[in-house]
Amino acid sequence: MNSLKRKDLLDIQSLSVEEILLICRSAKYFKDIFTRSVKSVPVLRGKTVCTLFYEPSTRTRLSFELAAKRLSADLINFSVSTSSVVKGESLIDTVHTLEAMKVDYIVMRHAASMAPHFLSRNIKASVINAGDGFHAHPTQALLDTYSIMEKRTSLDGLHIGIIGDIKHSRVARSDIEAFKKLGAKVTLCGPPTLVPDDFQLYGVDITYSLDELLPELDVINLLRIQKERQQGSLFPSLREYHRQFALTEERFRMCKSDVIVMHPGPVNRGIEIDDSVVESSHSIINEQVTNGVAVRMAIFYLLAGGAPLDEMTEERGAHEDSN
Ligand code: CP
Repeated sequence: MNSLKRKDLLDIQSLSVEEILLICRSAKYFKDIFTRSVKSVPVLRGKTVCTLFYEPSTRTRLSFELAAKRLSADLINFSVSTSSVVKGESLIDTVHTLEAMKVDYIVMRHAASMAPHFLSRNIKASVINAGDGFHAHPTQALLDTYSIMEKRTSLDGLHIGIIGDIKHSRVARSDIEAFKKLGAKVTLCGPPTLVPDDFQLYGVDITYSLDELLPELDVINLLRIQKERQQGSLFPSLREYHRQFALTEERFRMCKSDVIVMHPGPVNRGIEIDDSVVESSHSIINEQVTNGVAVRMAIFYLLAGGAPLDEMTEERGAHEDSN
């Protein structure tokens, strides 16, 4: 596989296994750069990246912005609350404005599913989906995949549990697609109201008993209870949710001795996970954030037609050896 032969990165569904592995291998190269005193490279010099966020974000937005800066791109950001969207400007007119400014990459988060797909059909720039409605969050799934591979080399044969509010989670949908493509067994767990039966179409198992599932898992991927997306009461109370589905200190003792604990953030401490588990040596929540920058650098690089970096590194090493 030479590079990503595509203009946009919109979802996991359209990525091949080879493309996912290429992104992960390239991310490793960029992560190694973080240990240098100068952490930037001139890969996107002269290119412009615009972050276009119609929904709040901390990690994804900062991570894309840092990735763009570390690749030496010019960066502009668009905040809905301070833009002409509040005066009624439509998405298509915002798109035409960005097109006129000759932006090269648009990183978009939007509450409407498929909004980045619409954008990609109407603009020459590369569009990267930073989360659309309940639909997809492909770069989160790629950084989650990379983070597991860093610890276990491969996902093949691993049993990964995704616990919590699956129904409202774009992360869950993209994670399931990525983990299944790479050969993992995936089990979903949460209250029946938050884990709809139709998720079985993804080829996953579903259980409502966290206590039975935990001892089986190699990776526990917890999701946030998304109070802002819920209409009506989908479980009796947060206290009851914690009692049945939180990764508490007591439940953590039931897990495998080398289990990995993940969370895409933001974390509701004391609701889906106890403080002590967040802080435990099994938790890779902060490493996921670091890896997010490397994975997003790799995506920018590969969408720009960059050659595989591991081969370049090997060639350079061979050349250096022969001198
Ligand atoms: N994981 C994630 O998407 O976090 P943000 O909403 O803070 O970007």
